[in-house]
Amino acid sequence: MLISKTFFIAFASVVVAAVAYHEDISPSSLGFLEEKLTHIRFFFHDVVTGPNATIIIALSPLMGKSKAPLPFGSLVMLEDPLTEGPEPDSKLIGKAQGFYTMVTQREDIDLELVMGMTITFTSGKFNGSTLSLFGRNYIFDPVREMPIVGGTGTFRFARGFVRAKTYTVDYYKGDAIVEYNVYVFYYANQGSLASSLLHHHQEGFSNGFEFMTDPLLTKI
Ligand SMILES: *[C@@H]1O[C@H](CO)[C@@H](O)[C@H](O)[C@H]1NC(C)=O
Ligand SMILES: *[C@@H]1O[C@H](CO)[C@@H](O)[C@H](O)[C@H]1NC(C)=O
Repeated sequence: MLISKTFFIAFASVVVAAVAYHEDISPSSLGFLEEKLTHIRFFFHDVVTGPNATIIIALSPLMGKSKAPLPFGSLVMLEDPLTEGPEPDSKLIGKAQGFYTMVTQREDIDLELVMGMTITFTSGKFNGSTLSLFGRNYIFDPVREMPIVGGTGTFRFARGFVRAKTYTVDYYKGDAIVEYNVYVFYYANQGSLASSLLHHHQEGFSNGFEFMTDPLLTKI
C-alpha cells in the first residue's frame, strides 16, 4: 500500500511537471501549415572607409602588434544596406546588422572570419521579417557558404544557407559589394493564429522617447 501510494505520488508529480512546463503540439495547432523553399537574392554593400562607412572596428587588441591588417581577435560591427541589384543606388530591400570577428592567429592577409548578423527586410512581401545568419566566412574562397539558423515573422522556423560571392572589391580600401543567394525553408502558409502572434501590440513602450535616457546609464 505504502509502495503503491509512493509510486502513485511520484508518477503523478512527473505527469504534473510535464504538463506544467512543456507539451508536444503540432505545427498546424499554431497555424504553421505548409513548409516551402525560397531563393532570395540581394547585394550587400560594405563600406570600410570614408564618411559613409558602414562598419566600425569595435575592438582590435593586437592591432599594431601583429603583421595582419586585421589581427586575431578583432571585432567589426556592421550595418550594411541590402539592394536588389549590384549598384549602390539600386532598390533598397533591407539591411544586414551584426558583426564579424577575426578567428585565425596566422599573421598574414588571410581573412578568416566568423560572421553573425540579422537580415531585416524593409520592403516587399518579407517587410518586417528577419533571418539570422551565423557561420564561417573565409573571404578568399570564391563562394562562401554560411548557415541560416533561424528567423522571425514570415521566416519563423527558418533554416537554410547562403552563398556569398564577391561582386566587386576595392582591394586598397576594402570596400566590397557581395552577392548573396539565400536558400531558406520556412512556413509559407501561416494561418491566422500564427499571424496574430505577429501583430500583438507592445504597450510597454508608449513613453518610447524617455526609455533609457536616464543620465546614470551614461556613467556605466
Ligand atoms: C555619402 O552619402 C551622402 C548621402 O547619401 C552622399 O551625398 C555622398 O556623396 C556620400 N559620400 C561618399 C564619399 O560616398
Ligand atoms: C514596411 O513595414 C513598415 C512597418 O509596418 C511600414 O511602415 C513601411 O511602410 C513598409 N515598407 C514598405 C516598402 O512596404
